Amino acid sequence: MDKGNVRKLKRSELEMILSWRNHPNVRRYMFSQEIITLDEHLKWYDTAVENSCKHLLIYELDGTSQGFINFSVVKESKIADWGFYASPTASKGIGTLLGLSALNYAFKEMALHKVCGQVLAFNQKSMGLHRKLGFKEEGMLREQSFTAGVYHSIYLYGLLASEWT
Ligand SMILES: CC(C)(COP(=O)(O)OP(=O)(O)OC[C@H]1O[C@@H](n2cnc3c(N)ncnc32)[C@H](O)[C@@H]1OP(=O)(O)O)[C@@H](O)C(=O)NCCC(=O)NCCS
Repeated sequence: MDKGNVRKLKRSELEMILSWRNHPNVRRYMFSQEIITLDEHLKWYDTAVENSCKHLLIYELDGTSQGFINFSVVKESKIADWGFYASPTASKGIGTLLGLSALNYAFKEMALHKVCGQVLAFNQKSMGLHRKLGFKEEGMLREQSFTAGVYHSIYLYGLLASEWT
């Protein structure tokens, strides 16, 4: 099933995705949990759009933007790290639809060989979502992230094009 679609992020949507990224229910699951200022956000965007390895995308359903996805391709390898978050007002189930649509885009439009995800150990939703989407757990980095005074382990997930139908 692939409901909705993924398309390039527009500059006019930067403030919207910043408000999603800074929402407590999103930011607490990110590797960097500080509030991001608009100035920092614009600088990040201006650098990313100039970089052909970075793909900044919006997932939309029935004409409404529902989430943000970021693929970072490692040079010529066709291997990418991904990150994503749903709009804090998105209904439950959007994560699955966003994932299906984004991975179709990754393997069909971008012709990637592999997508890799890194998830903080307490992010049960994202771990469940990766498994549901067909990712394999490839390892765990023990106490690899230090956030808000606490060490957290990071789970590594990978999905090959050959495993995506
Ligand atoms: C991760 C995120 C996209 C999931 O969105 P969602 O709409 O809740 O996802 P879905 O409802 O489609 O759930 C997908 C799967 O995740 C898992 N899941 C969802 N909620 C869960 C929960 N409370 N506990 C454990 N697993 C859960 C389940 O495996 C679920 O599949 P199922 O409903 O068939 O059992 C969303 O919560 C989000 O944006 N979180 C903040 C940002 C983030 O964590 N990004 C990922 C960083 S690695």
